[in-house]
Amino acid sequence: MNPPNSRAIVANILSELLSGHGSLTTHLAKHKEQDEFSLIQESCYGVCRWFNVLEHILSGLLNKPLKTSEQNLKCLLICGLYQLRELDVAEYAVINETVSAATVLKKPWAKGLVNAVLRNYLRKKDEIEQALVDSAPAVLQAHPQWLQNQLNKQWPDDAGLIMQNNNLRPPMTLRVNQVHKSRKDYLEVLADSSIQAKPGELAESAIYLEKPCPVSDIPGFAEGWVSVQDEASQLIPPLLQLSAGQRVLDACASPGGKTCHILESEHSLTECLAIDLTETKLVRIKENLERLGLKATLLAADASEVSSWWDGKMFDRILLDAPCSATGIIRRHPDIKLLRKPEDVKALQHIQLNLLSALWQCLEPGGLLLYSTCSILRPENEELIGRFLESSDNAKYEGIAADWGVECRFGRQLLPGGNQGPDGFFFSLLRKT
Ligand SMILES: C[S@@+](CC[C@H](N)C(=O)[O-])C[C@H]1O[C@@H](n2cnc3c(N)ncnc32)[C@H](O)[C@@H]1O
Repeated sequence: MNPPNSRAIVANILSELLSGHGSLTTHLAKHKEQDEFSLIQESCYGVCRWFNVLEHILSGLLNKPLKTSEQNLKCLLICGLYQLRELDVAEYAVINETVSAATVLKKPWAKGLVNAVLRNYLRKKDEIEQALVDSAPAVLQAHPQWLQNQLNKQWPDDAGLIMQNNNLRPPMTLRVNQVHKSRKDYLEVLADSSIQAKPGELAESAIYLEKPCPVSDIPGFAEGWVSVQDEASQLIPPLLQLSAGQRVLDACASPGGKTCHILESEHSLTECLAIDLTETKLVRIKENLERLGLKATLLAADASEVSSWWDGKMFDRILLDAPCSATGIIRRHPDIKLLRKPEDVKALQHIQLNLLSALWQCLEPGGLLLYSTCSILRPENEELIGRFLESSDNAKYEGIAADWGVECRFGRQLLPGGNQGPDGFFFSLLRKT
């Protein structure tokens, strides 16, 4: 049997994403055993990151557009263009393998077309790349038009930089479990292992690695000295103002990064309840808790259906890290550019408001609820909190006094940072009166 053709695998994954099925994470998980997994992964991420630019180049190389039924062929051509533009793979290998992939995709008739398009690109490369530089910024920004429009409208002064940063490769950030070692001591451990790193500037527990590496290479990872978590998320426990004896609810908890950080930050909570929708989602939380030697109560439930899971005991602190458009973490999940649609953002607001309104009844008077999202779209963030405050007679917005992020009407927004900066993230703190 012939070995699997990695370009055909990439084309099929991208085609699935364009049809709105699955995510890069779920599709790639099925190909981990492939010999060329790194090439598959790199190509999938790269194509998603630069999809709009590559699609624009492809359209200039085709005499007539491909039929919509030829989506995987289009994805194959785009994958070939990406590899020719960005990867250090011999051009003849890219062309030969991409042409063979047409047969694997059961489109042997397209071999000539694939060959001609890729060779044509190489022939006219300088001209094509120059025309691209001269083309509209909308193409170079490589974001879907609807998202560009929303960012330009909602963040007129920052939209260009936001999109530029979204197109970068994300940093690998660690959270130091300060129960084991201080950040300063752990930085020394890294230096002893010749891992270049520097402390984060916003969160006391954050460390940026100069280069990402497998967790198995990180000293003390298996022993729970550190976790992988973006710096923005590490700002949560101090904002919650935790203290001994409190009952804390983490309502949308999987994979449990914030649950674990809450428990690392305050060891004497009376209870920490972590909820997510399914048992499968809880498995990830359980694994993280076990590695870190922490304990929480886990519950599979729809947090917005309070009557199905709540025993009536009030919580002093609630974290609602709500499901959202994830537009603040596009650099980590560039498939969001292909998957997300404007109507999703509307549907998410409904879910977010539902969760917030339902969970509010579980909060002790005087208690705090922290609403957070990894979105940078105002309707999911400050506008959503504004709508909630209008409908509630016992909720008060507590400002967040901090020197990071952008102060918004009802919260604080971090915009996606550069190579060594945090994800885009929104925080709003509410007190029950
Ligand atoms: C942004 S992620 C949470 C990330 C998590 N807080 C962390 O830091 O690791 C949102 C989570 O909300 C969960 N979710 C969505 N709707 C929910 C609901 N109605 N009840 C409980 N969990 C929900 C999703 O399954 C998803 O795991």
